[in-house]
Amino acid sequence: MPYDNIEITTDGGVAIIQLDRPKALNALNNKMMGEVADALTKLEKDDNIGCVIVTGSDKAFAAGADIKEMQDTTYLYNYKHDDFGNKHCAIERFRKPIIAAVSGYALGGGCEIAMMCDFIIAAETAKFGQPEITLGVMPGMGGTQRLTKAVGKAKAMDMCLTGRMMLAEEAERSGLVSRVVPLDDLMSTAKEAAHKIAAQSQPIAMMTKETINTSFDTTLTQGIQFERRLFHSMFSTHDQKEGMSAFTEKRKPHFKNK
Ligand code: CAA
Repeated sequence: MPYDNIEITTDGGVAIIQLDRPKALNALNNKMMGEVADALTKLEKDDNIGCVIVTGSDKAFAAGADIKEMQDTTYLYNYKHDDFGNKHCAIERFRKPIIAAVSGYALGGGCEIAMMCDFIIAAETAKFGQPEITLGVMPGMGGTQRLTKAVGKAKAMDMCLTGRMMLAEEAERSGLVSRVVPLDDLMSTAKEAAHKIAAQSQPIAMMTKETINTSFDTTLTQGIQFERRLFHSMFSTHDQKEGMSAFTEKRKPHFKNK
């Protein structure tokens, strides 16, 4: 798959999307976001892929939406083209598990696409921030909402109103990231997690992700009911029979994704 602004590699059931505009610190321009959306569409259809990792470079996961590309746009242009909408938010629509492996700057839209992933594994060098206010705007790809849900009102207000950065240690303490590891271990840790996920039953992993995400939009009662319905439905799958048989027979399960 030849792209100009991202690189895709696959390793067994895991695909890695590497953001690759190093001169612009991986600033998210329209072309790159279109490529990410296109790649995710293909990866979602690819039955061999069970988990995706999104990553950047050591210096920058992504330093935000491309300021130079957007600075002269107008309200009407952005509205008509749904800028920062459909294409930029392809990760949030992706139905298979997707992990962000973050090193260096994850600012503005960079922080926002990391938060669209299912969880974030951060290098000790990671720096998260929503500095849009210093540019005379505010986050436009879900930052005010996802950051608040991840770290609570006090820290979200602090970060979005002052534009300050949060280092990896504070990000882990605040619940923004699931693990912090030395930079040298970032990709091996992310790949290990991704391979573990890809080795599970794909439909069950997808339903688990969908159910956790449902908790953000429902009451507790509705969410628990949704969970129970899908839990019941899992007993119609081969993989439930296989997983439980393997446990009782003291062997490894061989999931068939059906
Ligand atoms: N857009 C476009 N170009 C960017 C960029 C961005 N978001 N971030 C960095 N770059 C470019 C710089 O312009 C520079 O290019 P030139 O060499 O052509 O001048 C190159 O990347 C390297 O950047 P710096 O020289 O600034 O590198 P640094 O190490 O001194 O600083 C930094 C790094 C602190 C991340 C700094 O680049 C910076 O503050 N970047 C902007 C961060 C930001 O404000 N992000 C939010 C964007 S708005 C947004 O994302 C809106 C939204 O929610 C939808």
